[in-house]
Amino acid sequence: MAEKKLPFTKEQVTELIKQYPTPFHIYDEAAIRQNARKLTKAFAWAPEFKEYFAVKATPNPHLLKVLREEGLGADCSSLPELILAEKAGMCGEEIILTSNDTPAIEFKKARELGAIINLDDISHIDYLDKHAGIPEMICFRYNPGPLRDGGNSIIGNPEDSKYGLTRKQLLDAYRIMQLRGVKRFGIHTMVISNELDPNYFIETANMMFDLIIEIYRTLDIKIEFVNFGGGIGVPYWPEQEPVDLDVVSQGIKKAYEAKIAANGLAPLKIAMECGRMITGPYGYLVSTVLHKKEIYKNYIGLDACMANLMRPALYGAYHHITVLGKEEWPLGYMYDVAGSLCENNDKFAINRKLPMVDIGDILVIHDAGAHGHAMGFNYNGKLRSSELMLKPDGSVELIRRAETIEDYFATLDFSGLEK
Ligand SMILES: Cc1ncc(COP(=O)(O)O)c(C=O)c1O
Repeated sequence: MAEKKLPFTKEQVTELIKQYPTPFHIYDEAAIRQNARKLTKAFAWAPEFKEYFAVKATPNPHLLKVLREEGLGADCSSLPELILAEKAGMCGEEIILTSNDTPAIEFKKARELGAIINLDDISHIDYLDKHAGIPEMICFRYNPGPLRDGGNSIIGNPEDSKYGLTRKQLLDAYRIMQLRGVKRFGIHTMVISNELDPNYFIETANMMFDLIIEIYRTLDIKIEFVNFGGGIGVPYWPEQEPVDLDVVSQGIKKAYEAKIAANGLAPLKIAMECGRMITGPYGYLVSTVLHKKEIYKNYIGLDACMANLMRPALYGAYHHITVLGKEEWPLGYMYDVAGSLCENNDKFAINRKLPMVDIGDILVIHDAGAHGHAMGFNYNGKLRSSELMLKPDGSVELIRRAETIEDYFATLDFSGLEK
């Protein structure tokens, strides 16, 4: 099986652990920067291109600052995410609020920041008006429902998913906003998650360009930007290939010329809000083997658990594992790699072929840089681990300390219990 590369050696990690005990997540800043540049470069043909990094994937302000330096904005879906983007120095139309079932406070904060508001439902128009006022620019999220196939266990198929407006609602919503004085319009969709087929994104672009033409013809509204959402996949398996961004971009360009430019609707700005493909492959969960157990199967017990990375337990997702220092050893043993939660699905890998694993070995779980630490939780009193940044000069910076028991207890008042 093809091996996945690491940006650090066993010696470096062993040294690091003396200062920052496992488990921790570590992100490769140089690789993330390079990757962000690659995406922007692929769309250099567009009159304007902006990637709004999906903050939910890796909500750390230090990481957001790095991405901002690379020209990326932020896609936020909650008040804390809006605040994180603000703390990372972002404001105005560098931020888009794509949330659903949105509370008033999020609309208020988005308005205060001058962020783009992407409405998830036609009924949100009055709600927004009442609580935060109607801005000069508005965006709507389109859900094509039966008009588009696709979807998967992460996002659901369009018809079953709770997001966005139907085609009819969308046209009504733009008309309402037009009557209420909105001058600038965007359109958004997100119909897929973790997709590796470039054609899927090109088909989505075609669908959106057709819709933009229809909106123009029906309502005389010239859409200013289209946001294709996130969803570009990550090659979690070593034998998978990453999405060729140039193929995606060139396919979208062809559709743009045939539909947008040919109908006099240029310039139309292109936006995306990928999370996974930006940071996913460049984050690693580093963990130490605490125990080995042999019953009906052979188990490796880590000091990390699904509270550090729940994708395998939640979606049965594959995450490659490297046993540090044993990269060249034969994969002669089969293990279930487990955490310590009282949940039998707390396993990073089932029936995984690995080299012989010993107590004290360091295991690196790959592709944990998006929807990894972010999905953490405190079940079973598990404390959330630290996050580190491997800097381009090889130094390592702590960008989030590990939680302490005091943090865990911070919302409890113990007074009066001891009597
Ligand atoms: C609205 C929205 N935008 C963007 C993303 C990012 O998706 P991905 O990390 O798969 O690119 C998500 C993921 O949940 C989302 O819900």
